[in-house]
Amino acid sequence: MDRYAVIGNPVSHSRSPQIHAAFASATAQDMDYGRLLAPLDGFAQVVAEFRAGGGRGANVTVPFKEAAFSLSAILSERARAAGAVNTLRFDAEGLFGDNTDGAGLVADLRKNLQVALTGKRILLVGAGGAARGVLQPLVAERPALLVITNRSDQKARTLASVAGGPVIARRFEDIQGEAFNIVINATSASLAGEVPPLPTGLFLPGALAYDMMYARDDTPFMAWARAQRAARITDGLGMLVEQAAESFFIWRGICPDTAPVLAMLRAAS
Ligand code: ATR
Repeated sequence: MDRYAVIGNPVSHSRSPQIHAAFASATAQDMDYGRLLAPLDGFAQVVAEFRAGGGRGANVTVPFKEAAFSLSAILSERARAAGAVNTLRFDAEGLFGDNTDGAGLVADLRKNLQVALTGKRILLVGAGGAARGVLQPLVAERPALLVITNRSDQKARTLASVAGGPVIARRFEDIQGEAFNIVINATSASLAGEVPPLPTGLFLPGALAYDMMYARDDTPFMAWARAQRAARITDGLGMLVEQAAESFFIWRGICPDTAPVLAMLRAAS
């Protein structure tokens, strides 16, 4: 049986094993997918041991995506653009590193939420690893405007300067008076129960508020967007399932059907 795992710290909360077990069963793949908790200073060793023990590939989650990037012998173009790797495949030539986060977000928006990005005004909140991972796939959809805003303004500027396309950086206070079709929270503020101090009036009619985090209940950002009367509000569970499907394809060469798996997870939460 081919073995895969998600490696992180913490990792016990990860829903990836459930998602990949559902994909494997639906596509008749003989594979096992587990969780591996790596010590903060022991990522490379956990990968090496898993590979030596017969592992075929892994997903990588917080806080090891940059470490996985450094460890990869061969990088996909999108992993290189993101500076981070969330999917490793253990090839004979060495570790192949890819990043499926951005493709997962775009697939969730387009397929599951039926939101077109072309010609839209997008606000991306955050400029850390999560934001960097989704920026290029968002730009590739050709929005009219993509504004990056972040607590540390310099990080937003740096990200915007290398992005190309209609991407600009603005401070929180400088987006007062602007409005968007899609507002994406790529910060980790929800983890601390916080919401970035965004101005009011950001949502155009019909706008979508998207938190890349997922949780059983509204995240603080989702609750804030609700109070701001955003027309549509969602968490990142769909993105999680879609990025997993992209990883599954990288490993197995098969595109699993995501809709039933997303419905199963929603029903279970
Ligand atoms: P990740 O991989 O989750 O993106 P990261 O690279 O540490 O993690 O980035 C965290 C992001 O969340 C950053 O954009 C951070 O803002 P700073 O660059 O100013 O640190 C943002 N963030 C975290 N906590 C936040 C908070 N309470 N309010 C606003 N932004 C926050």
